Amino acid sequence: MYQLSGVTKRYQRGRETIEALKSVDLVIEDGDQLVIQGPTGGGKSTLLQMLGGLDRPSEGSVELDGTDMARLSEAKLTQVRSANIGFVFQSFNLIPTLTAQENVEAALVPLGIKTTERRARAAEALESVGLGERLGHLPGELSGGQQQRVAIARALVKKPKVLLADEPTGNLDEDTRDEIMSLLEGLWREYGLTFIMVTHDSAIARRAPRVATIKKGRVTINDRTAAG
Ligand SMILES: Nc1ncnc2c1ncn2[C@@H]1O[C@H](COP(=O)(O)OP(=O)(O)OP(=O)(O)O)[C@@H](O)[C@H]1O
Ligand SMILES: [Mg+2]
Repeated sequence: MYQLSGVTKRYQRGRETIEALKSVDLVIEDGDQLVIQGPTGGGKSTLLQMLGGLDRPSEGSVELDGTDMARLSEAKLTQVRSANIGFVFQSFNLIPTLTAQENVEAALVPLGIKTTERRARAAEALESVGLGERLGHLPGELSGGQQQRVAIARALVKKPKVLLADEPTGNLDEDTRDEIMSLLEGLWREYGLTFIMVTHDSAIARRAPRVATIKKGRVTINDRTAAG
């Protein structure tokens, strides 16, 4: 479970201070799906970075299962992140010189998993996203939707409890977008993930059980399950 209390994030650019998040309080239960929406520059990606321990808040605490990620050492934070949190980005972020299989395996290296097991688990993860036939392809030899499937396999191969996605369908055409969304929703259910996703797609947001809107660093929650 995530518990954010008074999370403020300021960026300093020269003399200018930008407050990207303003005293955000938020609880996200295990297994929940939360969609994050809001205008550009509102603070969506910044919030995701806080949740993923990719960056630290200027003030406040970001607790994951009772551990405040804001206060962990860099080494401990890296460990928590590599074991518990999978990321999917709009631009796939695959390593262009590595095959699909090698890209997915790379996520298991920090966990100290041996080569043979890494290979087997990467192949299995790629099969689970429908890419069992493309293990040896480089990212440049795959379509956008296929590249995003590799990125999803990479995020999930370590069996994280949390999946964070920042506009995962932003670079895809409409049909591919629907395929990737069904895949993500299926995986969320199958693995009981805590799934937090930024999207501009209002069709997706309409289906989501819980939507957080961020404007100028402030979060409001629209809880459809509670509203009925
Ligand atoms: N590294 C940084 N240094 C300085 N300012 C930053 C940095 N990252 C983000 N910001 C600023 O913080 C604010 C929030 O940015 P953020 O990327 O979280 O917005 P966003 O909601 O994800 O927008 P978009 O929909 O365009 O992706 C913006 O005003 C942005 O310019
Ligand atoms: Mg963003």
